[in-house]
Amino acid sequence: MRTQVVIIGSGPAGLLLGQLLTNAGIDNVILERVSQDYVLGRIRAGVLEEGMAGLLDEAGAGERMRREGLPHDGFDLTFSGKHHRIDLHGLTGKHVIVYGQTEVTRNLMDRRAATGGISIYEAADVQPNDFDGERPYVTYSKDGVEHRLDCDFIAGCDGYHGPSRKAVEGKGLETFERVYPFGWLGIVADVPPVSHELIYSNHRRGFALCSMRSATRSRYYVQCGLDDRVEAWSDDRFWDEIRSRLPAETAEAMTTGPSIEKSIAPLRSFVAEPLRFGRLFLVGDAGHIVPPTGAKGLNLAASDVRYLFDALQEYYAEQSAAGIDGYSARALARVWKAERFSWWMTNTLHRFPDTGTFGQRIQEAELEYLTGSRAASTSLAENYVGLPY
Ligand code: FAD
Ligand code: DHB
Repeated sequence: MRTQVVIIGSGPAGLLLGQLLTNAGIDNVILERVSQDYVLGRIRAGVLEEGMAGLLDEAGAGERMRREGLPHDGFDLTFSGKHHRIDLHGLTGKHVIVYGQTEVTRNLMDRRAATGGISIYEAADVQPNDFDGERPYVTYSKDGVEHRLDCDFIAGCDGYHGPSRKAVEGKGLETFERVYPFGWLGIVADVPPVSHELIYSNHRRGFALCSMRSATRSRYYVQCGLDDRVEAWSDDRFWDEIRSRLPAETAEAMTTGPSIEKSIAPLRSFVAEPLRFGRLFLVGDAGHIVPPTGAKGLNLAASDVRYLFDALQEYYAEQSAAGIDGYSARALARVWKAERFSWWMTNTLHRFPDTGTFGQRIQEAELEYLTGSRAASTSLAENYVGLPY
């Protein structure tokens, strides 16, 4: 079989790229290791920047997000028992949309099915080959039968653990990494959110975040230890812990109930350079990871897709490789700014085991400065709503 672009991975990056290519008349096939239901069962990010929302519209998959997504003009920071609202819209003229990654993925899958795009789920042993030359191909097996897919380009949208980045190890790949000494324990519960806006809380017991998926579904997180296990966290323990990390009136207003999902994610900053190796591109989590504090992971995957789609379109429409040659530098420039922001927000809001009471006081001073200064608040707000593409 032959196609123009093989996309490895059917997460948001792969699906979004695939749809933009399909709409532009560029043939593509998505190869995914797990089943469609498995992909849809993963509960992850929830905050979309305007740039990402616009890309979903452009892909023809934005209609439900526009109808059901929740536009947010601000969020709350709590520390030292106080609330402070960051007025995103007032400071930047922009907002974000709270809408789950699961729904983004579902809408893109539906659009792909409606427009006849080919996705091969449960593809095993997916391997990019000969991308250094002019005729790359991808091999995989499905139901025990081996296949080969010839193509012009390979888009590695296969997340942090996928085969694309592994295929370029030892070929000039350089990596930059910081692993944080804690994780996030997250739950979803069908209870109304405690507040109509998100609350990011710095507390001596550790960070907490109150988010949502709808008027009746809450998404809550607490900072936890790296060796914590989900089984050790009953729902009651979770609710007690998150309430202890919020100002009293917020804790009292919180509706609790049984969780419908509970999982722990480690926190990591990671960047691979470059993001292009001949005819193979690293896109989204395959090329970089941010800790979730700034809600940037999904949005960064989208900006990579914007740059790569523009480059591929230029290649096919104008026979120009300029966009392809510039992809890595263009994407990395935005990636590093989001890495800096996510690292900073993580440092400012979490409890670090090794910085002690001094570290806590520095964080409080930083938060006092931030909330008392329009310049500092604007800096936070413009990064949170997303830097321009
Ligand atoms: P992914 O969504 O990881 O998609 C990659 C796809 O490639 C997957 O479907 C995978 O199955 C597939 N794949 C992997 N290996 C192979 C293979 N061998 N062959 C074929 N396919 C393969 N971001 C936030 O902003 N906020 C959050 O709260 C948040 N929580 C997160 C929680 C977890 C547990 C994780 C892992 C990430 C979280 N993120 C969060 C980050 C955000 O979800 C990611 O940045 C986003 O999913 C990136 O999209 P992607 O398409 O690049 O990668
Ligand atoms: C959500 C996740 C985040 O990492 C974040 O910063 C805000 C919201 C969420 O899952 O809703």
